[in-house]
Amino acid sequence: MHKKLANSHSPSKPYAASPVVPVRELHAGHRAEILHHLLILNEEDRRLRFGTQTPDEVIHHYVEGLDFNKDTVFGSFNSQLSLVGMAHLAYLPKTKGQPQAAEFGVSVLPDGRGQGIGTALLARASVHSRNARIETLFVHCLTNNRAMMHLAQKAGMKVEYAYGDADAYLKLPPANPGTIVEEAANEQWADFDYALKENLKRSNDAWSWFLGKPIIRPT
Ligand SMILES: CC(C)(COP(=O)(O)OP(=O)(O)OC[C@H]1O[C@@H](n2cnc3c(N)ncnc32)[C@H](O)[C@@H]1OP(=O)(O)O)[C@@H](O)C(=O)NCCC(=O)NCCS
Repeated sequence: MHKKLANSHSPSKPYAASPVVPVRELHAGHRAEILHHLLILNEEDRRLRFGTQTPDEVIHHYVEGLDFNKDTVFGSFNSQLSLVGMAHLAYLPKTKGQPQAAEFGVSVLPDGRGQGIGTALLARASVHSRNARIETLFVHCLTNNRAMMHLAQKAGMKVEYAYGDADAYLKLPPANPGTIVEEAANEQWADFDYALKENLKRSNDAWSWFLGKPIIRPT
């Protein structure tokens, strides 16, 4: 009885929308990882992500130009601490009389797809946007980008089509104490998760060095 009551009052877990994917906010120190992540994407994924052919030089330029004081970049790391998913939330210039808006761009490496990482990055960016008083969140995508269209529609975004392109947008409700707590809890949980993975990786690296062969842990 007591146990049942205690359980029913347990605090809700972070990431109600995507329960098991930790998402961290990235900073300028992550530039090399972001570059590596984007350079791994093949031609088609780059086209879907940036809406056009995107050679390596353009990606270098894009990453060098990321302004972490102006925009927000989110990342999801795997157990090897590789940046498997990243999202760029770019705040659009303020226009007089118009609600503040931001554009969301996302990529997940092929090996990490279908595990809710893209969904978690979008959920995290939505909550962050609400807390930053953004009223509209945009995603610009190609209409044949079925995965992104599905993701956007699942998040409740409205989609408008024009000439092979699609603009999905989400009107965000204002922040409330719940969204502030949710974002803080998510950030702490993601930091904790990263620290655990870092320790495990260090331990594996040390044992590999000591034994002279790679450590493979069953999952
Ligand atoms: C779009 C992208 C970010 C999705 O990442 P992801 O981690 O696989 O996303 P999730 O696992 O959270 O969800 C993917 C959803 O799309 C669905 N999906 C995947 N491919 C699909 C397809 N061809 N048609 C319809 N739905 C598809 C999955 O079934 C899943 O749906 P579900 O959650 O209801 O089961 C990833 O595919 C990607 O990086 N693509 C290249 C870059 C890009 O297109 N970026 C978006 C433009 S900014």
